[in-house]
Amino acid sequence: MLQFWEDRYAGSTYAYGTHPNEFFKAQLDQEIVPGKILLPAEGEGRNGVYAAQEGWRVEAYDWSPTAHKKALRLAEQQQVSFEKYHIASLEELQWPAEHFDLIACIFVQYPSAYRRQNHQKLARSLRSGGTFILEAFSQKHPEAQAQNPRVGGPRNMDQLYSLEDLLEDFSGFEWTLAEETHTHLEEGLYHLGEGAVVRLAGTKK
Ligand SMILES: C[S@@+](CC[C@H](N)C(=O)[O-])C[C@H]1O[C@@H](n2cnc3c(N)ncnc32)[C@H](O)[C@@H]1O
Repeated sequence: MLQFWEDRYAGSTYAYGTHPNEFFKAQLDQEIVPGKILLPAEGEGRNGVYAAQEGWRVEAYDWSPTAHKKALRLAEQQQVSFEKYHIASLEELQWPAEHFDLIACIFVQYPSAYRRQNHQKLARSLRSGGTFILEAFSQKHPEAQAQNPRVGGPRNMDQLYSLEDLLEDFSGFEWTLAEETHTHLEEGLYHLGEGAVVRLAGTKK
């Protein structure tokens, strides 16, 4: 699986572009005071670079060394930096409880065998009152993929999310937004067109 991502990121082009994900940007722009943000499976750095430009202290991880290299290059080009960018999977990382002010999972599609455990680990590392943001492809996405394969996303149902499962993963949160919807993506080479997504934005109680 890692090889899939290494191949995807091999070229000099940014696979999902260099602009932040629109949902992430819209949610982050509502935050009044920037603090410490964690970006799981951050890929080539588009979201972290935007957060750093907005004054956030950015910690990120991804298991792809190529993504890491390109993320640091993008940050340098934009004259910002990641405070930390680990080449790692979530299982390998530890943070104190209540550590981050904001965590954003953008198209992080964990297999169901460890999705809940991973989400609960992330939830523990977020401070009470901190913000959680998520956009991921939903279980309705295969219909969109059938119409337009260029929209991308996992081909494996086991990595697609339902709102119901996510609300159970993140019990103890207060949601300002929790929905399954369709959205038009224009993200680099691999997220192009109408996709079915699930979105969360809210705070840890
Ligand atoms: C669709 S990309 C999204 C990247 C980034 N969040 C964005 O929105 O541009 C999914 C990312 O998940 C990473 N990934 C998948 N499984 C992982 C794992 N077990 N540990 C760390 N990263 C992983 C891949 O390397 C890839 O960068």
